Amino acid sequence: MKLKPWVKKALSFIMIGIIIGIIGFEVVKYFHKDTEKIDNSLLKEHNIAEKYASKTLEYVLKNNIYEEKYLDEYAQIEFNDAANFKEILLTFLPKGYRGEEINYLFNLSQTNLDKLKEKDYLDLKNYYQIKNFNVDNFERYNAYYQKNSKYSYADVVTYVNINLDLPVYTNPAEVSEPNDLLVLVNKYNCLPKNYSPSDLTNVNGTYGSVPMRRVAKEALEKLQKAVQSEANFVLLPTTAYRNYSFQSTLYNNYVAKDGVAAADTYSARPGCSEHQTGLAIDLKNPATSSDIRLTEENYEWLKNNSYRFGFIIRFPKAKEFITGYQEENWHIRYVGMDAAKTIYENNLTLEEYVDLYVKKY
Ligand code: DAL
Ligand code: ZN
Repeated sequence: MKLKPWVKKALSFIMIGIIIGIIGFEVVKYFHKDTEKIDNSLLKEHNIAEKYASKTLEYVLKNNIYEEKYLDEYAQIEFNDAANFKEILLTFLPKGYRGEEINYLFNLSQTNLDKLKEKDYLDLKNYYQIKNFNVDNFERYNAYYQKNSKYSYADVVTYVNINLDLPVYTNPAEVSEPNDLLVLVNKYNCLPKNYSPSDLTNVNGTYGSVPMRRVAKEALEKLQKAVQSEANFVLLPTTAYRNYSFQSTLYNNYVAKDGVAAADTYSARPGCSEHQTGLAIDLKNPATSSDIRLTEENYEWLKNNSYRFGFIIRFPKAKEFITGYQEENWHIRYVGMDAAKTIYENNLTLEEYVDLYVKKY
């Protein structure tokens, strides 16, 4: 086959380009290797067999922090450009961390490293890659895993961080930022008794007007429009904001009726209900009978669409062991658009979301 001259020319250019590319790649590779080559004169000077040569060994020799007893470990530690490389070697080798373990300490946050410095050796192999790992909870993780080995270590870390290994209501923390849209209120985190949001505003509800925070009202109105046009039913709030004393009356009535243990599975104790944040809303379809809040189809729509308006289903069936409450398919909670989307897409509870995405360890 005879090629046209311009095709020939183009092909030669491509060939030359490829050849230059390959040569360039090899040259870069060669020089790069050279910079990683160990200075053999240092090995000779210290009488160290060449098989131990490593960038880390060279580093410790040059920085005068070489200790013969760690020779095997140096060989295994990957040289790391981090500013704290020297400090990590000096702190953790003497505690008994092996070379391979030193490699994974670099995955930890500075906060965790600072805490780890104060402790004796810990075997971190199951935890160092978990983003919400907190050195403070190390013993609790291990104890929880012993009892719940069906969970992954990642879940164990989250569940312990949110205190599932501790009895409820024993020593609840006082929520420090009750106005935050991501505020977490549950059996371990309760609000100050006198907290009430400053931007409460009324919304028409099934049984009269219902106060809630402005941001929740605005989102609810959008959700109500959407449910009507997309699914052709109505959702109205029954209650939203409830102050401490209202919740107290409710809870005490339930206890009188069913006893503490049962009441605790469906009603929050006063101060520990997220209804006090003004961001939680109980919904009802007014077309259903008085003892039914939502039909299965209503819930199906709510479950798959509330995130579009910044709401989550706060107490889903499959997550009762995390939220500590029986399923409430009618209780939605405003958390904002980003959080609601992440929670929906990853099938999380607010407890898990806050631990994984908001808290810094
Ligand atoms: N029913 C929910 C759990 C509350 O009382 O806040
Ligand atoms: Zn509720």
